[in-house]
Amino acid sequence: MITPLYEFDEETRQQIIKMHLEMQRGGNATGPIEGAYGEVYSIYFPEGTFPRQIAAKCPRVRRFGTPENARLGVEQVLHELEKTHAIFMVPWVNRFFDVQFIHGWPFILSRYRDGSLEDLIANPLGWSVSDRFASLIQIVRALRLAQERGIAAHQDLKPSNVFFDDLRRKGVPRESKGMHFHMLVGDFGLANAFRDFGRNSGSRPYMAPEQFSTSPIDPRATASFDVFALGVIAFESFMDGQHPIGVTTRDVWPWRQGIPQKWNRESTWRDWANRANEAVLSTSSELPHGIVELIYTSLSPDSAGRPSLSDFEDQLWRSLNRIDTDTCAGLRMQVEYWESLSSSDEWPHMDAKLARMRKFYATL
Ligand SMILES: Nc1ncnc2c1ncn2[C@@H]1O[C@H](COP(=O)(O)OP(=O)(O)O)[C@@H](O)[C@H]1O
Ligand SMILES: [Mg+2]
Repeated sequence: MITPLYEFDEETRQQIIKMHLEMQRGGNATGPIEGAYGEVYSIYFPEGTFPRQIAAKCPRVRRFGTPENARLGVEQVLHELEKTHAIFMVPWVNRFFDVQFIHGWPFILSRYRDGSLEDLIANPLGWSVSDRFASLIQIVRALRLAQERGIAAHQDLKPSNVFFDDLRRKGVPRESKGMHFHMLVGDFGLANAFRDFGRNSGSRPYMAPEQFSTSPIDPRATASFDVFALGVIAFESFMDGQHPIGVTTRDVWPWRQGIPQKWNRESTWRDWANRANEAVLSTSSELPHGIVELIYTSLSPDSAGRPSLSDFEDQLWRSLNRIDTDTCAGLRMQVEYWESLSSSDEWPHMDAKLARMRKFYATL
């Protein structure tokens, strides 16, 4: 019998993890960064290798590291891997290319990205208004193409779950007309949770009113809570990090010591969500033309009042075209090109791997 990874003390555990990650491929492992469900290690490789950096995500030991919870943690990672695998060909999705087990604990591997949308929002001078449109368009494309492949809702859309590669670091000139940041939606750990597990919630500042309720949501319903989250994200993107609730999101959430208790209460966010679009009209002068109405309707407390993903996308293109025609045309060409590259939906090697993993864990 192998000792489960979580039974080692923290120091030994991290030594074991890093040693295994490094042995498989070489390189130098560091981390982890802890999210809500996962912990993410990074593996660096020497100059001249490709890729230079890999991310390895496993169930967070502090949350799932007991005999009672371990199955849940493994299940969560398998779910994320399966959902992401179903859409690996979408160029706006952060795909996983391999799985590695360390003392029975699964690690899913992807390319390490240059940062997350959170970083872009926190550095307003680093991205132009056109860049903001281009980024949002890629995110909506990700959700639309995912929806066509069975992902009814990402359900946890927020800036820290959207990664990017900075194309300027890969030789794309700063002044070129088109995409400067390649956006990759990640963390599909809660995708379709409302229908697969009867779990509606996501992350509070991005949750639509119906996600605060535990009553079942019609399984035929599709991404209308992703549209709500998109409304919040668009607002934050154009307002340099301000949340439509009236504060800078990162100042109050995730809640930590020193922040007023108000922001730690679910009711604060739930009450806001139920009148989410009220404040949008008063900030309209600071938002680009054509966007006010879009955000206003996306934040509609009634899901029926929200636009579809395709309406959302169309409005972004229209607004971008009005403020920057050349970037709009350049971006259109790039989007078409990237999407035409991923012609095949087949990845038999990963299918087989997933099937073997399912079988293995079913016997435990
Ligand atoms: N491939 C990656 N490249 C760069 N950063 C990543 C990558 N994967 C995860 N991260 C970082 O780790 C954090 C947590 O990862 P995430 O997949 O969102 O896990 P969780 O389910 O715990 O939220 C992300 O917000 C991001 O900062
Ligand atoms: Mg996350």
